Amino acid sequence: MSARPAAVVILAAGEGTRMRSATAKVLHELGGRSMLGHVVAAARALDPHHLIVVVGHGRDQVTAHLAELDPQAIAVVQAEQNGTGHAVRIALDGLDHLEGTVVVLPGDAPLVTPAALQALVAQHVGTAAATTLLTARYPDPTGYGRVVRNGPDVLRVVEHKDADADVLRIQEIATGHYAFAAGPLREALGKLSTDNAQGEEYLPDVVRLHQEAGLTVGGRIADNWAETVGVNDRVQLALAARMLRDRINRHHMLAGVAILDPETTWIDADVVLEPDTTVLPNTQLKGTTVVRRGAVVGPDCTLSSTEVGEAAVVRRTTADGAVIGPEATVGPYSYLRPGTRLGRGAKVGAYVEVKASDIGAGSKVPHLSYVGDATIGERSNIGAGTIVVNYDGREKHRTRIGDDVRVGSNNSLVAPVTIEDGAYTGADAVISKDVPAGALALSENTQRIIEGWVERKRGKNST
Ligand code: UD1
Ligand code: CA
Repeated sequence: MSARPAAVVILAAGEGTRMRSATAKVLHELGGRSMLGHVVAAARALDPHHLIVVVGHGRDQVTAHLAELDPQAIAVVQAEQNGTGHAVRIALDGLDHLEGTVVVLPGDAPLVTPAALQALVAQHVGTAAATTLLTARYPDPTGYGRVVRNGPDVLRVVEHKDADADVLRIQEIATGHYAFAAGPLREALGKLSTDNAQGEEYLPDVVRLHQEAGLTVGGRIADNWAETVGVNDRVQLALAARMLRDRINRHHMLAGVAILDPETTWIDADVVLEPDTTVLPNTQLKGTTVVRRGAVVGPDCTLSSTEVGEAAVVRRTTADGAVIGPEATVGPYSYLRPGTRLGRGAKVGAYVEVKASDIGAGSKVPHLSYVGDATIGERSNIGAGTIVVNYDGREKHRTRIGDDVRVGSNNSLVAPVTIEDGAYTGADAVISKDVPAGALALSENTQRIIEGWVERKRGKNST
């Protein structure tokens, strides 16, 4: 039989009361993705014929999110949450002729890996089982369904709330991940009762029903229990986020990235780091950030969906949607906003904010400036304290600065305005008219000296 599942069903209809949140549980994020996003990614790695997500609480939010994540996935509504077995029954309603393997995944276990699921499916298919469940031994099994065995045979799963003292002593738990044979699954789902502590149709009861029908039931102990943990509250969410952080950092380090302080380095799942990059402490790399070979990022950077070019150096910087060219230097205390593009070897220095601007190769904005809606050519220098006045109170206008320009310190460049190639401006100028190539622009601001003024004003011996 093929290892390719006929269907993967992800259970995501529950309310997640313990999160105490207006947001549906599976939409809470870690590592830059929703919990559902992580589970869908792992499910997709199995290449199922159908990917079904059961939605209920917050179904509009969840369905809209799913459509963005994975337009091929099908959302099936479970209007009332009558249990995990009920949810799977509804998911399979429209799929009467399904044959082969059906994999069921809890939507609130975001750390599950493709490898763990592939191993589960391989064992299931290899043993021609009716049910194969993933199990684990947790340091604290409180709250989980316990796995009752007779030697190697799994007899049944007993929910914590239904368990007696003997069962509560069992350390092995059901993680909620299952592989089933479609036909026997459908049959068992038709026989589930609600005669239990929660009055729900329990999916784990399929184990007992298949066992009683004399079908093969197998258990697979997870290679790494941490990959299977569920998130029911924000304490568990923070714990899962830390475990995911460690996994992501380890992956990058083994692939050639130097991470000096993994505990304070948070890298989202979709970030790309090339080998021989260095990430210094207290750095967050978010969204679709890419860091190219030889670049150094940190300490204290928060970069969102930003590209850092080869051998660039970015220190103590916040950047969002910026493109930093190769060998450019940024920081400390720089703020790059969306639409910022720095050319090769460009420099943005301390206390400089840049928005929707191109700063060409070798050009520098070294100190205390705002550059918004501007295009700066190559090898130009913008003096300390210069502000691009891009907003007239109603509209934004563009500023154009050519190649090899020298803007003096503390200028106001009142847009729309152009400074052509090779032009200079004096210190403290207000530039509101275009400056021709090679010219010097000054705006009057003449210094006067009034001799003896202090003594006349304040009297002798004044301090
Ligand atoms: C469930 C299992 C338990 C297992 C544990 C692992 C059952 C009865 N119990 O318990 O054996 O040890 O997961 O984490 O299956 N859901 C629906 N519709 C429903 C009910 C739940 O879609 O009617 C979804 C929830 O949104 C959640 C998942 O199913 O994503 C699991 O439900 P939850 O209520 O969290 O079950 P647990 O008590 O954690
Ligand atoms: Ca749960």
